[in-house]
Amino acid sequence: MFVMDCLSVNEKGHLTIGGCDTIQLAKEYGTPLYVMDETTIRNACRAYKRSFEKHYAGKGLPFYASKALNCKAICRIIMEEGLGLDVVSGGELYTALQAGFPANKIHMHGNNKTPAELRMALDAGVGRIVLDNLFEMETLNQMAGNLGKKVAVSMRVKPGIDAHTHEFIRTGQIDSKFGFALETGEALQAVKQVLAAENLTLKELHCHIGSQIFEIEPFVQAAKVMMDFMAEIRKETGLAIESLNLGGGFGIHYLTSDQPQPYDRYMEAVSLAIREKAAEHDVPMPFICIEPGRSIVGEAGITLYEIGGIKEIPNVRNYVSIDGGMTDNPRFALYQSAYTVLIADKAGQRADYQATIAGKCCESGDLIQKDTMIQTPEVGDILAVLSTGAYNYSMASNYNRIPRPAIVLVRDREARLAVRRESYEDLIRNDL
Ligand SMILES: Cc1ncc(COP(=O)(O)O)c(C=O)c1O
Repeated sequence: MFVMDCLSVNEKGHLTIGGCDTIQLAKEYGTPLYVMDETTIRNACRAYKRSFEKHYAGKGLPFYASKALNCKAICRIIMEEGLGLDVVSGGELYTALQAGFPANKIHMHGNNKTPAELRMALDAGVGRIVLDNLFEMETLNQMAGNLGKKVAVSMRVKPGIDAHTHEFIRTGQIDSKFGFALETGEALQAVKQVLAAENLTLKELHCHIGSQIFEIEPFVQAAKVMMDFMAEIRKETGLAIESLNLGGGFGIHYLTSDQPQPYDRYMEAVSLAIREKAAEHDVPMPFICIEPGRSIVGEAGITLYEIGGIKEIPNVRNYVSIDGGMTDNPRFALYQSAYTVLIADKAGQRADYQATIAGKCCESGDLIQKDTMIQTPEVGDILAVLSTGAYNYSMASNYNRIPRPAIVLVRDREARLAVRRESYEDLIRNDL
């Protein structure tokens, strides 16, 4: 019935996750509620690591892109699974460090890191700082010099790959705010400037071509383009860059019709491309890093809401209102993202009612899904939205002064609180 192994329907006809009855979870922890299945997260981490061992002799490491979902409990799970961590802000870095994540396994991203964030990364001793522009490079070089440090850096390159995905999440092409462009010669010029910066050591090249990508070919193309560029750098400067970071972006199921590729097929194809390019250019095989975010936590998560008012507008549509909305999941409002929605207490029944799921904010665009099929709703039912583990909590806001929901982790029929629900007191904590 579900593509996610962690979901099922019990004898009461209720949706379960990680063996826990979602109706019980809603009762115990309240709604809206994010629920994450820990086993799914750990299995995804292990599948990525295994694919490196199988196809690349283990000469690589997945770095979890924590922008997908960053809180202390998730950082600890990722740490226990032996992955690295990618952070893009002082806040993500702070959370990871507070969780005890080893700084040398953290990569610091961001297209406009502030001097304070750069300083924080330097003080923590992060494994790499991923340079996005020359202004940042100069600031970092100076800062490192003042501290008497030599800093390992990576450089984000736009490989010019057009991944077939939503326009807003395409980042590998020239017209992007991220990184240095390859086609224009900007990237090579920047590499030379980094090599001339006496307090920086160029360890890695990085690219990320987009998100929610189902095809393998764009990743293979990106790997080839980057290998060609590494060969060009070696020819021009003599430097053999030791590591290649191919970013994240692997697609997941939002709908049953979605067809993500198994991680293994991705790694197999990319490893082959790298091997061939290394032989063609007679350059060493680089250490490979990838940065999956969504594909580690996305399918592990669901959000539970209580249904309030139901407004049936004849010949128009049926609005089914919930006690959350764009404040806990802005992805439909931002990119019209598709989701699978069902009534958790009627999960065993047929979905024969066309509903538009409306949030509680003062915005007409505050919808979770438009004209989707669910079981016949009644006030007080618990609605479940699937695949909300990535870019939901991490994109949540307090618009309309709505407190952010709690996160509960489930595993083998046990549930534990990972993030407390915000209170009204939390909302005014910083008000003077
Ligand atoms: C540099 C970088 N790495 C990794 C990711 C993670 O992408 P995903 O969650 O689609 O795997 C992103 C997402 O925007 C990114 O910008």
